[in-house]
Amino acid sequence: MSERNSAAAAVTIRPLGLEQSAAATRLWEEAGLTRPWNPPAEDFARAVGGETSAVLGAFDGDELVGTAMVGHDGHRGWIYYLAVAETRRGSGLGRQLNDAAEEWMRERGVPKVQLMVRSTNAGVVDFYERLGYEDGEVVVLGKWLR
Ligand SMILES: CC(C)(COP(=O)(O)OP(=O)(O)OC[C@H]1O[C@@H](n2cnc3c(N)ncnc32)[C@H](O)[C@@H]1OP(=O)(O)O)[C@@H](O)C(=O)NCCC(=O)NCCS
Repeated sequence: MSERNSAAAAVTIRPLGLEQSAAATRLWEEAGLTRPWNPPAEDFARAVGGETSAVLGAFDGDELVGTAMVGHDGHRGWIYYLAVAETRRGSGLGRQLNDAAEEWMRERGVPKVQLMVRSTNAGVVDFYERLGYEDGEVVVLGKWLR
């Protein structure tokens, strides 16, 4: 994807490399997005190394201030680990990262983007609705394969 600059929040958004794993997972911990059953460094490495996935990072200079993991499965696009550093929230950076994620999908011909919100994080649904997302009225089922 092309680099995106925003004068408003003075950040640059670009795909991360493996060397940014520690900074990204630190941000995810701070944002309360990690769980013991999802080792964040493994999630990061799998997404960065995948052919149909990436982790987009927002930089203020050298400082990583936000992330969005993106991927597509041949049908839908998915966003995970959308996180903005605590001190940067409320200035439009979450929206910018979502815009960058949507652009990443469009560049790959993905017609629809989806995401999951943990029931313990239901407050963030209002944020996504501001960005144009709608409740898909689906129940997500899962099963571990490891
Ligand atoms: C959710 C999160 C990414 C939002 O980032 P942010 O930079 O604060 O959001 P923005 O400033 O871009 O806000 C975009 C819009 O959503 C609104 N908004 C932001 N947070 C909101 C909230 N909790 N409830 C309702 N609206 C919200 C803003 O007012 C803004 O509206 P506007 O552009 O129409 O004026 C950030 O709070 C975060 O990192 N949270 C912890 C991690 C998390 O829960 N991620 C989601 C996992 S599913």
